[in-house]
Amino acid sequence: MAEKLTMDTLVSLCKRRGFVYQSSDIYGGLSSAWDYGPLGVELKKNIQEFWWKEMTRLHDNIVGIDAAIMMHPRVWEASGHVENFTDPLVDCKNCRQRFREDKIPDENRIAKKCPDCGGDLTDPRQFNLMFKTYMGPVEEGGSLVYLRPETAQGIYVNFKNVLQTSRVKIPFGIAQVGKAFRNEITTKNFIFRTCEFEQMEMQFFIAPEEDDKWFEYWKKERWEYYKKIGIRQDKLRFHQHGPGELAHYAKDAYDIEYEFPMGWQELEGIHNRTNYDLTRHTEFSGKDQSYLEEVTNRRFVPFVIETSAGLTRTVLTVLSDAWEEEVVDEGDSRVVMHFHPLLAPVKLGVFPLVKKDGLAELAQKIELDLRGNFATFYDQGGAIGRRYRRQDEIGTPYCVTIDYQTKDDDTVTLRYRDSMEQVRIKIAQIPDFIAKADSEYRREK
Ligand code: GAP
Repeated sequence: MAEKLTMDTLVSLCKRRGFVYQSSDIYGGLSSAWDYGPLGVELKKNIQEFWWKEMTRLHDNIVGIDAAIMMHPRVWEASGHVENFTDPLVDCKNCRQRFREDKIPDENRIAKKCPDCGGDLTDPRQFNLMFKTYMGPVEEGGSLVYLRPETAQGIYVNFKNVLQTSRVKIPFGIAQVGKAFRNEITTKNFIFRTCEFEQMEMQFFIAPEEDDKWFEYWKKERWEYYKKIGIRQDKLRFHQHGPGELAHYAKDAYDIEYEFPMGWQELEGIHNRTNYDLTRHTEFSGKDQSYLEEVTNRRFVPFVIETSAGLTRTVLTVLSDAWEEEVVDEGDSRVVMHFHPLLAPVKLGVFPLVKKDGLAELAQKIELDLRGNFATFYDQGGAIGRRYRRQDEIGTPYCVTIDYQTKDDDTVTLRYRDSMEQVRIKIAQIPDFIAKADSEYRREK
């Protein structure tokens, strides 16, 4: 039977192979902060680029922006975050641990007993999740700023700028990728929930009466997106927010959930934010945020359908989904990461069969020539089988091996990661062959 992935296994693979490291490791680590290593940063960039292309370039009515993390503090009063962006926290009077009241088991919550030590819990207090800091040298009220808890507000406050400068007409969207910060109580789930994380958000501005139509459209689009990046469909599901779960700005919300090693959890939210944000910004800034529809001469405050995905959480999804420990033969198994080839941090491994007789030099030249096409990795160390396995473990979808025959007929052996099958192709065919294999890629299990 196939092994089930545990979070510990994933954390250790990520550290060993250079995907993700604990932050400030040499100082004992900073809890719930993580650094992306050489492979992790490539994987994250590939996910981001795929999302960007999918959400902006493939639509003629979606444009991008990149807003500052620190914004005018009134933004967060207008958005409702100063007042409403809170978690109910309880402290254990005995062991001093702090918990989110809504995340502890019912029996502990009702009995007001600590889930760890059984000590008495305090009454819940509302704790605002925004990080505060001070701009300028003096720590006084006037210079208070927040680190943004969502990237969305950077889009809303630029609604008019984009409208006036880029000839978009409703319906249209503005997309952004960037860091967000929340002072959360984090559980030990690796990069799932962290205080500093990245979001990929798109706000789609529409006529109010079209909200149901566009909400359904984006729910479908976003589901399809996860299919395109190769996430197994039986590991995804929708969850509609009940009245108690809805964020302060939302009329309706669906999460796309993924079955992570610790269970089903939110991966992305699709929200009908109505005209809440633009109306509030009109009130708080005194600047009208309405839209004039030219054809009808009608003026209205647009509704917004938001798609909000965690980039760092998608990295965890892609890593969890890709992992497999596979029995190859009796007594032989391999760990393989089945990344979709478009996301894989290394696309092509290039190996000489042996170092001698000019094979290493030939392989190096081939690798050099291919660098402009995709991410390559040259490896001449150890037995060829072990080199393949090392690439399997970091999810490299293709490897080519240069052997004595290469010298005679300019052919190499190309090995597929998933099936481990090998084919013989001409050196000159490698880029086209891989482009075709990428476009036809289907994960088998
Ligand atoms: N603008 C709407 C918004 O921020 P959200 O449901 O609070 O909505 C959207 O967050 C997505 O951002 C989540 O589905 C998740 O992927 C990601 N996210 C939120 N908080 C996170 C955290 N502490 N660590 C990592 N990712 C987080």
